[in-house]
Amino acid sequence: MAEEISLMEIDDEEGTSGSLKTDKGKNVAVSAAPPDSKAIPWVEKYRPQSLDDVAAHRDIVETIDRLASGNRLPHLLLYGPPGTGKTSTVLAMARKLYGNQLQNMVLELNASDDRGIDVVRQQIQDFASTQSISFGAKPAVKLVLLDEADAMTKDAQFALRRVIEKYTRSTRFALICNNVNKIIPALQSRCTRFRFAPLDSVHVTGRLKHVISSEGLDVHENGLKALVRLSNGDMRKALNILQSTHMASQQITEEAVYLCTGNPMPKDIEQIAHWLLNESFLTSHKRISEIKSRKGLALVDILREVTMFVFRIKMPAEVRIQLINEMADIEYRLSLACNDKLQLGSLISAFTRARASLVAAAK
Ligand SMILES: Nc1ncnc2c1ncn2[C@@H]1O[C@H](COP(=O)(O)OP(=O)(O)OP(=O)(O)O)[C@@H](O)[C@H]1O
Ligand SMILES: [Mg+2]
Repeated sequence: MAEEISLMEIDDEEGTSGSLKTDKGKNVAVSAAPPDSKAIPWVEKYRPQSLDDVAAHRDIVETIDRLASGNRLPHLLLYGPPGTGKTSTVLAMARKLYGNQLQNMVLELNASDDRGIDVVRQQIQDFASTQSISFGAKPAVKLVLLDEADAMTKDAQFALRRVIEKYTRSTRFALICNNVNKIIPALQSRCTRFRFAPLDSVHVTGRLKHVISSEGLDVHENGLKALVRLSNGDMRKALNILQSTHMASQQITEEAVYLCTGNPMPKDIEQIAHWLLNESFLTSHKRISEIKSRKGLALVDILREVTMFVFRIKMPAEVRIQLINEMADIEYRLSLACNDKLQLGSLISAFTRARASLVAAAK
């Protein structure tokens, strides 16, 4: 008779009895039941439970689903920027494959906690060498989830290559990371790679709307747009900003979102740029200092946004390059903890010089 859930073949020569040691890895996320408590951060409360819940990346999700359901799960390497659904996708796949046996069949290790290969090797060995649960007639292949694999040292990665080979018949590995260039080619070539791009605004909006209606929130349209803009395709960031803005204010408006994140609002940046381009040094300094302290803005954030603004306005290329370079120098000095007041002076001076060049160019 066909197996109910037929998974990949394994050799059970190493099969021994005993419980699995999964306590060292960060196993909090490996849970069959959806979290449901008021205290839970929304990023966890709304973590996709099934593959269908994963927003965007449909092609990747469907491919992984097809491979896993068809007993052809390869070793996986999921990479891409934060908050795009890499960990969630692997967990949702595991939930579908193993159901209520999830805890026994998945070992979740966070490479940034357990960097040493000896720890990893020991845990994987303990895990892979214990008896598999049978799904139908055959014992199922287990899954080792190595999150933040780019934090592993090169030596650990070379050693992991052997570990993967040794246990490949009984265990699949899913490596997850942000920076794929930090994974050695020998490991990359053992895995099927999937790149998770930042979520586009349509998907971030859709997922936010789902949370907004589930929580019954009062979100203005411009507030929603601000959330999408500030999150830059990072769904975790979008949910975190939504939740913290909700805790700070009843209504989620554009202003509330910007205030909560400490980001300068676009209209404030326009105002600041207007002062920089038109007012005297003293007036600019006074007004910018005032708006900075009234709205709790950091000069480094103002600088970043004003730089974007400079890219958008019309001016001769050489003036723009000079101005951008000077702003980059100020940013560098701020990163060395130089005094905000002095650097604000430098910013205004940079604009004064740019204005002089613009006048000269016009003549
Ligand atoms: N594609 C997505 N669809 C729905 N929710 C998502 C998606 N991506 C991220 N999220 C939300 O963001 C949270 C974090 O996602 P996840 O842990 O999967 O990101 P990640 O890509 O593994 O990020 P990191 O690289 O920082 O580990 C999830 O709990 C979920 O709430
Ligand atoms: Mg992750």
